[in-house]
Amino acid sequence: MVQPVEVNIQSNYREIHDTFSADMKAITSLAEKWHLISQIYHSQGEFEAYLSIIRNLGSQRILDCACGTGFPSIELARRGFNIVGSDIDLDNLELLRTLQGRASCDFPLFNCSWFNLDKEAFGEQFDLTLCLGSSITYFESWNEGVAELSMNFSDMRKCLECFRTITKPGGFVLIGICKHYTKTKRTTSITFKPRHIGGETYHMTWALEYFWDKRLKTWQCDVSNIEEESFSIRLISYLFDKDELKDFCLSTFRNVKEIDVCPEPYHDILLLCEV
Ligand SMILES: C[S@@+](CC[C@H](N)C(=O)[O-])C[C@H]1O[C@@H](n2cnc3c(N)ncnc32)[C@H](O)[C@@H]1O
Repeated sequence: MVQPVEVNIQSNYREIHDTFSADMKAITSLAEKWHLISQIYHSQGEFEAYLSIIRNLGSQRILDCACGTGFPSIELARRGFNIVGSDIDLDNLELLRTLQGRASCDFPLFNCSWFNLDKEAFGEQFDLTLCLGSSITYFESWNEGVAELSMNFSDMRKCLECFRTITKPGGFVLIGICKHYTKTKRTTSITFKPRHIGGETYHMTWALEYFWDKRLKTWQCDVSNIEEESFSIRLISYLFDKDELKDFCLSTFRNVKEIDVCPEPYHDILLLCEV
C-alpha cells in the first residue's frame, strides 16, 4: 500500500512536447505515453463539461485523486480552483510536476493509493473528490505488464468508501466511467481525429475487448506520427458497467445522479455522488 505522502519532486523530466516532436522513440514510460494519449483523447468540450458541473457545485477545495498527468486538474488550477492532486503512480506525479511549472500553476501532489485516502494524512477533507477518465476500473492494474486480475467487488466498495471518507459531509464525489462499457458490447474500436501537438500530427486508435464472464477488459492503444514512428500500450482492467457502478455508489453515498454531458461517445458518463 502506498501511504499518502506529499511529494516534493524536483522533476528532471525533459521538455515533454519538444521531445515528442523531436523523437517519438524517446517516449518510453507509461507516464509519458499516457500524457500524449491523454492530449489526443481529452477535448476542450469535455473539459468545459466538467468545468460547468464543478462551477455549479461551488466547491472550494477539490481533490483529483486520479490526477495522472494533469487532466483536468491543471486547467482547473489555472482557472483559480483550489486543487490538490493525488495518484498511485509516482512517474505520473513527476511528469505533472514538470507540467505544473510550464503552466505556472503549483498545487500540492500526494503519492497515494485510493485505499489510503486518509483525512489525517491529508490534514483535511475536500468539498469535491474527482476520479475521472474511467480510472476507477484500473484500481489494481495501471501498469504495463499486468497479466491477470480476478475481480473483487469488495475492493471496489473499499475504494468508494475511501472516496467518501476523504470528502466532507455535504460534499460530492464525481466519478467517470466510459459509456462503452455496456453488457451488449464485446469490442469497441475507435479511430481518433488526428491531433496537432507541439508541431507534430498524431494518429491514435483504440481497440477494447470486453470479457464479461471474467469481468476483464483489455485496452490496446496505438499512437503514431506522420514519420510513422509509433508506440503501443496494452493494459488490462476490471470490467463493470455504469449501472453496476451506480449500485455500488448508491450503497456508499447518500444520493447518486447520472450526468451525460461529455461530447464524444468515448468520453465518460459521470456519476455525481452526494456525501
Ligand atoms: C486513465 S488514467 C486517468 C488520469 C486522468 N484523470 C485523466 O483523465 O487523464 C488513470 C489514473 O488512475 C491512477 N490510479 C489507478 N489506480 C489507482 C489507485 N488504486 N490509487 C490511486 N490512483 C490510481 C493511475 O495511476 C492513473 O494516473
